Amino acid sequence: MEGKAKPVALSKVETQRLIQPSDLNIFDTLFGGKLVSWVDEIAAIAAHRHSALRVVTLSIDELMFEAPVTKGDIITIKASVNRVFKSSMEVGVKVTQHHLDSDIEKRICRAFLTFVVIDENHEPCICPPCLPESTDELRRYENALIRRESRMRLRESLS
Ligand SMILES: CC(C)(COP(=O)(O)OP(=O)(O)OC[C@H]1O[C@@H](n2cnc3c(N)ncnc32)[C@H](O)[C@@H]1OP(=O)(O)O)[C@@H](O)C(=O)NCCC(=O)NCCS
Repeated sequence: MEGKAKPVALSKVETQRLIQPSDLNIFDTLFGGKLVSWVDEIAAIAAHRHSALRVVTLSIDELMFEAPVTKGDIITIKASVNRVFKSSMEVGVKVTQHHLDSDIEKRICRAFLTFVVIDENHEPCICPPCLPESTDELRRYENALIRRESRMRLRESLS
């Protein structure tokens, strides 16, 4: 891998959103497509913060909507790079919800996205490696490899 390893912490991004009526589906809960778009956007920011290069989304995996979100909830979306391979990297995203009238925070979504660093010809190029430092970062780093191997196995067994 080329370049000096950058601490995972450099890639961390966090944002919050107040859920508005225009964010809801016909059942008056948050429309999943909106959340997917926010997840993709914040993950792309994390991937760009890490690489400082052009990044495109290759895949969004294991995205789970674990609980409904309603009007007036505040959601917090956090993303960081889990592991860099060569041209690709995995970014993990966690979304939590809290109601305006309570301090209880609950996870409502988790996703793993793969981004590829590309050059001006849209060809994959080498991404700088990342350096996990905390216990959680090391755990995510190890798990990212397991997920990548599982994706590759699935791809091979289906082709
Ligand atoms: C991303 C893109 C440039 C990759 O091109 P490609 O010819 O498939 O490139 P490669 O085969 O060299 O793969 C690139 C990386 O993706 C990885 N990859 C490919 N398929 C994968 C899969 N199923 N799971 C995990 N990683 C995968 C490869 O291992 C490689 O990573 P590495 O260099 O770290 O080992 C191309 O697929 C593309 O342009 N996709 C559209 C992206 C886009 O527009 N996204 C916006 C949303 S529409």
